Amino acid sequence: MRSHYCGDVNETLEGQTVTVAGWMHRRRDHGGVIFIDFRDREGLVQIVCNPEDAESFAIADRVRSEYVLQVEGEVRLRPEGSDNSDLKSGKIEIVAKRIDILNSSETPPFPLSEQAEVSEDVRLRHRYIDLRRPEMLQKLRFRSQITRFLRNYLDDNGFLDIETPILTKATPEGARDYLVPSRTHAGDFFALPQSPQLFKQLLMVSGMDRYYQVVRCFRDEDLRADRQPEFTQLDVETSFVEEEDLMTMMEDMIRGVFAHSLGESLPNPFPRMTYAEAMARFGSDKPDLRIDLELVEISDLMKSVDFKVFSGPAQDEKGRVAALRVPDGASLSRKQIDDYTKYVGIYGAKGLAYIKVNDIDNGREGLQSPILKFLPDDVVTAIMQRTGAQTGDLVFFGADKANIVNEALGALRVKVGHDLDMVKRDWQPLWVVAFPMFEWDDKANRWMALHHPFTAPRESDIDLLESDPGKCLSRAYDMVLNGTELGGGSMRIHRAAVQSKVFELLGISEQEADDKFGFLLEALKFGCPPHGGLAFGLDRLAMLMTGSASIRDVMAFPKTQTAACLLTDAPSAVNETQLKELNIRLRKAPNLSDNAAKGA
Ligand code: AMO
Ligand code: AMP
Repeated sequence: MRSHYCGDVNETLEGQTVTVAGWMHRRRDHGGVIFIDFRDREGLVQIVCNPEDAESFAIADRVRSEYVLQVEGEVRLRPEGSDNSDLKSGKIEIVAKRIDILNSSETPPFPLSEQAEVSEDVRLRHRYIDLRRPEMLQKLRFRSQITRFLRNYLDDNGFLDIETPILTKATPEGARDYLVPSRTHAGDFFALPQSPQLFKQLLMVSGMDRYYQVVRCFRDEDLRADRQPEFTQLDVETSFVEEEDLMTMMEDMIRGVFAHSLGESLPNPFPRMTYAEAMARFGSDKPDLRIDLELVEISDLMKSVDFKVFSGPAQDEKGRVAALRVPDGASLSRKQIDDYTKYVGIYGAKGLAYIKVNDIDNGREGLQSPILKFLPDDVVTAIMQRTGAQTGDLVFFGADKANIVNEALGALRVKVGHDLDMVKRDWQPLWVVAFPMFEWDDKANRWMALHHPFTAPRESDIDLLESDPGKCLSRAYDMVLNGTELGGGSMRIHRAAVQSKVFELLGISEQEADDKFGFLLEALKFGCPPHGGLAFGLDRLAMLMTGSASIRDVMAFPKTQTAACLLTDAPSAVNETQLKELNIRLRKAPNLSDNAAKGA
């Protein structure tokens, strides 16, 4: 139906007759001559309709936005001075000889031709139209390109692309499962995979050696800008490797995709940081290194001050008192500081103490703070020295359980960094390594796996599994880019006895381990090679590389914050017959009228 894409018609075709097909983007009536900006996937081209050509002129007069047309015409150079340098086809126009209307269109729910402010709900409800916008199309095209690069890289390095089941058993990755009732096994459920973790390990037992998959994963968890209930991983597993081999190869692949698709060169090698250092300096295991703000430990200075809010956590072995110096922060208003105090409250902080440094050379007199009166001179001097505070700065303080201080000041660091325009335009990748195997969950009163329960402990730490699980470090690694966790993985446990021990530590009884993971424990007994791998969040990679604010912008059909699809209205009620076949009786009748709660 076409000889060329609209966007590909250019001056090399001058004088030739071409046929293009696409959408009526915009129309301008210039005293007798009608100009149509005609659009397809590859871009825009200008069509000119002269009144002399009565038939096509009449059609051009009638077409409306988003009508689907086929246009045949002659390519000619635009008249002197009317080039449009914003368009690939900006030097030419097509003089229409014939226009066929292939389909009409109702007025679109939002205009495509301007940068109109459209709510995301409306965009998602009519996603097929939203995706016509060049910037959306560009993002999906870019995503397709990077996926191809990554696949090629792995293909070239001897990885086999192997599919794993979607209807399966729960794999613990820390979220709730999406369940699918079985009709043929009344009362039983499949779980959609949170990741192909166990299957890829089984493939290593099978001797596949190098596996990858671009695979959909499902997690029923609280959603944020970089989380969706179904998302895509680039999932990788290899046998007979150590973490060095794998990390070297994976960062080479990521450097490759940045060079290829963005022309950016990432550092070689990526810097590495231990989990302990990341938490101490940035309060986060995915620090955004583009922001030059750091937490400073001051617990030791606060042990005996007269301020319980600080001395309490300083004396508590699970507590932490930390400072965050904000250069030039003394100009922050009371209102701004109050807003930041509210902000850290989201993370459980009970307050946000601060000292404004009006004149560093003037001792106490030069400082301004509601907590100054509680702090002796030597402590104040030590704080100023340790944080490197200068005249004009402000120092924030957090004091609480270490995890609260880390989360609160970690988040504050990023927020202040953005607010004060301190984020460098740069790519800052990082490997975070030496994670603890376990963290203690106060609520559940038991150890939880920091990664997942199949992550191997460091060989030198195996004894700690028995004696001091909290100190036991794992062979896990996360790849972080500009404050986003792009991927994570580990060397795995390949011996059944160690795996059983870890299950036991996690409070998983022998019976439960057998019910849930019996197949894995058994497989480990049949010659399982040492192996490890990792998984990248492909959506997150595409989000970062395209500079998108949300992961939804790089997914064709994403779900809303409440995990609903506004386009299809999923999830939705099913009929009695279906429920009956599945042996399901609902506890609560579905609410058929209310779809409002599904919004973005
Ligand atoms: P993990 O749970 O860290 O590891 O997931 C790997 C990567 O997947 C991305 N990701 C998500 N992206 C969008 N929405 C979500 N809800 C979401 N959850 C995770 C992140 C993350 O780094 N089986 C292990 C990997 C392994 O050990 O090999 C796993 O799934 O970018
Ligand atoms: P208060 O004595 O409660 O009025 O607190 C004095 C200052 O300490 C105020 O600026 C509070 O915001 C701050 N503050 C209170 N609790 C904490 C905390 N846990 N961490 C940091 N600052 C706090």
